[in-house]
Amino acid sequence: MAKKKAAGRSRKASKKAAPKRAQQVTTTAEIESVLREQRVFEASEEFKKRAHLSSFTKLKRLRREAEKDPVAFWERQAEALDWFRKWDRAFEWKYPFVRWFIGGQLNASYQCLDRHITTWRRNKAAIVWEGEPGDQRILTYDALYNEVNKFANVLKSLGIKRRDVVAIYMGMVPEAVIAMLACARIGATHNVVFGGFSAEALRERINDSKAKLVITQDAAWRRGNEVRLKDAVDEALKKAPTVKNVIVYRRTGTEINMKMGRDHWWHELMEGASPVCKPERLSSEHPLFILYTSGSTGKPKGVLHTTGGYMTQVTYTTKMVFDLHDDDLYWCTADIGWVTGHSYIVYGPLANGATVLMYEGAPNYPAPDRFWDIVERHRVTIFYTAPTAIRAFMRWGESYPRKHDLSSLRLLGTVGEPINPEAWMWYYTVIGGKRCPIVDTWWQTETGAIMISPLPGATPLKPGSATLPLPGILADVVRSDGTSCKANEGGYLVVKHPWPSMFRTLFGDPKRYKEVYWSKFPPTKDRNGYYFTGDGARKDEDGYFWIMGRIDDVVNVSGHRLGTAEVESALVSHPSVAEAAVVARPDEIKGNALVAFVVLKAGVKETEKLRQELREHVGKEIGPIAKPDEIRFTDALPKTRSGKIMRRLLREIVTSGVIRGDITTLEDKAVIERLRQQLGEES
Ligand code: PRX
Repeated sequence: MAKKKAAGRSRKASKKAAPKRAQQVTTTAEIESVLREQRVFEASEEFKKRAHLSSFTKLKRLRREAEKDPVAFWERQAEALDWFRKWDRAFEWKYPFVRWFIGGQLNASYQCLDRHITTWRRNKAAIVWEGEPGDQRILTYDALYNEVNKFANVLKSLGIKRRDVVAIYMGMVPEAVIAMLACARIGATHNVVFGGFSAEALRERINDSKAKLVITQDAAWRRGNEVRLKDAVDEALKKAPTVKNVIVYRRTGTEINMKMGRDHWWHELMEGASPVCKPERLSSEHPLFILYTSGSTGKPKGVLHTTGGYMTQVTYTTKMVFDLHDDDLYWCTADIGWVTGHSYIVYGPLANGATVLMYEGAPNYPAPDRFWDIVERHRVTIFYTAPTAIRAFMRWGESYPRKHDLSSLRLLGTVGEPINPEAWMWYYTVIGGKRCPIVDTWWQTETGAIMISPLPGATPLKPGSATLPLPGILADVVRSDGTSCKANEGGYLVVKHPWPSMFRTLFGDPKRYKEVYWSKFPPTKDRNGYYFTGDGARKDEDGYFWIMGRIDDVVNVSGHRLGTAEVESALVSHPSVAEAAVVARPDEIKGNALVAFVVLKAGVKETEKLRQELREHVGKEIGPIAKPDEIRFTDALPKTRSGKIMRRLLREIVTSGVIRGDITTLEDKAVIERLRQQLGEES
């Protein structure tokens, strides 16, 4: 694919000119946005030629039309699904609760399987799987259909019915997908818990969702080690009274405990299962899944998604944002335990009949080129990953991707955090060979599907910007009184009209749902009530969105409210820096002082001179107010399991030295200990 070098066109400089960034800040803004990125990239003619949408003018027209009547737009997209019964009414909004495609009936597993097996796709690969040790499996749509039917019957045989909650605690094996689709087939609601979570976190999520059954595996491979999932389930179930049965898939073959009467082997149950299980006719608002996401404080939130609206938006966005074609080999590196795995490994791609690559293990096992090795061997065409992974690749160095032929790639994507322009350029140049558009997709567990993103054949790209809301998505940046911000004025990112894949509530806690998301901008006589995303953002003069990160991460320095993500981005644009996290500690004079935790690239020495240089660099990039007061070198940052930097913990370290908040989602607890010790040594 795309062997010819059809370099993307770049307007206003790419190679020679360093980004010109205006130094001024808008002092009237509630949140000041200080980064200005000037580079613009367009897809090559070759890419445009086969893209589903290749004209920016057309896209703009589509967005304008959809803005006038978003419901009609989404109804048109819903037509692409196979409904058992068409909806009577498309939309109902009773603040803050929404329903879409009311009266319609469908089944998500039917969208992903049944409708393909009557076509030529029956023998097309649905999943190309690679285990960490190197073993491989390919499941065609027909094979996946058979497995899902059988497993749906297994669930039924253990008494699982419509609306029962089933917890799935697995690694990245095809059986995790089979388990999800089997739940969907019989109308059970799945609650996938990321396999990296502890027994304690698993127990909390099982109990909160009142799960009746747990599906797990003996252990998973990760960086050459076994992650003993079944042991964690045993521990969690010591205090989880709702769970009656456990199904265990054998992956590594390690010795585990099987509790008589409660625990069953996957392969034994499957042996006798019938391969025919009719998909349930489910109402459009039938709960498809619960997925827990951490709040900044308190217990995790059970985000509830339903069927019709969710399937409509994930199906549409997968096709358009990834410009998906039947001959693509699509790889999303997320774990199935995150919403990205749900929407863009399972439901969106399979509903479109895509071939999905799924990889079990770590990106640096056995060596830091594992991903590139996979891309080369399988000839991956679309690659979707997170900025945190991209920064890790940058840190490991270019030599790893350079060892491999990555010419099969034609499109790259990112999700999960703002991608700083330097990382974007690295991704574009080193991984994409300046040939692949990058779709920077903004969305959330709560939004269910992509909301703000380029359509790669149509939207001119600016490094670091998620560009424009998709057609039918009415996003805006507003002040705290709900009025729209001017161009380049920082404010709150909101969505002004409900969208189909919107979560419907927080499971068991509608009050918290209303409080967290719908009370900052409640309905008034002139407006409907806006969904508050929790993110800060600005729109530039072209209407492009620049996400500034979580509002909780905004700090006030000498009367200027700065998004710490922007200071981090400036630090990372220095050639010695791999990663940075910036937090504030109270300061008598300035209100707050900025403390930057900086991870240097491999081989760079930590010196006083470099510290000064970095401060000056930020001063140059943004302005003197943003210069960090302190720079602390560290070898790692505390991150959630999904790769997000936990600034809250760093804030606690610099302010009190004691961590009081919840750390169950922390990936590597030793990082915090090391940072604390370092702090003690230096002070
Ligand atoms: O702050 C935004 C950031 O991630 C948050 C949502 O996190 P989560 O629910 O875990 O879902 C991640 C996968 C969809 C957002 O509120 N975020 C996500 N994508 C982007 C982003 N920030 C900037 N740019 C993005 N493309």
